[in-house]
Amino acid sequence: MGTTRNRIEIMHGVNLDQLGRRNPDHYGGLNFDRLEQKIAGFARELGFTTRFFQTNAEHEFVEHLHRIHEMSDGIVINPGAWTHYSYAIRDALEIADLPTVEVHLSDIDAREDFRHVSVVRDLCFATVKGQGPDGYREALTRLKEELQR
Ligand code: DQA
Repeated sequence: MGTTRNRIEIMHGVNLDQLGRRNPDHYGGLNFDRLEQKIAGFARELGFTTRFFQTNAEHEFVEHLHRIHEMSDGIVINPGAWTHYSYAIRDALEIADLPTVEVHLSDIDAREDFRHVSVVRDLCFATVKGQGPDGYREALTRLKEELQR
């Protein structure tokens, strides 16, 4: 029998702690605490154990990725604006070497040109964007399928 792989790391990057103060046209009205609570609910329904991490410091995000290989079975990652240019985070995600879904609340491909680039996308087996908080349910569902394969 295989071991259960159900430990998921939910990682949020720069400025996501400021949800609730950011443009509701892109991000909705939920503040960050409520978003994390919602994600925790989705994860419980799917039988996942979750850990949450958010920082505005790129080196902390990188160092967290360095640590999680032994502690987690998968990652849901929303790096915020780092998505579009941080090769340091990209490299650290490659080092983490875990099944990962990229999530964005807004549809980054329908916004400014600089948001159309994601330097992490090809390291992720799926990307969910433009679905607001419900996108995290889809991301976790995709991760569940991936971990059961
Ligand atoms: C975001 C999209 C990014 O372009 C932006 O910089 C963010 C949030 C999203 O969830 O839609 O901070 O990742």
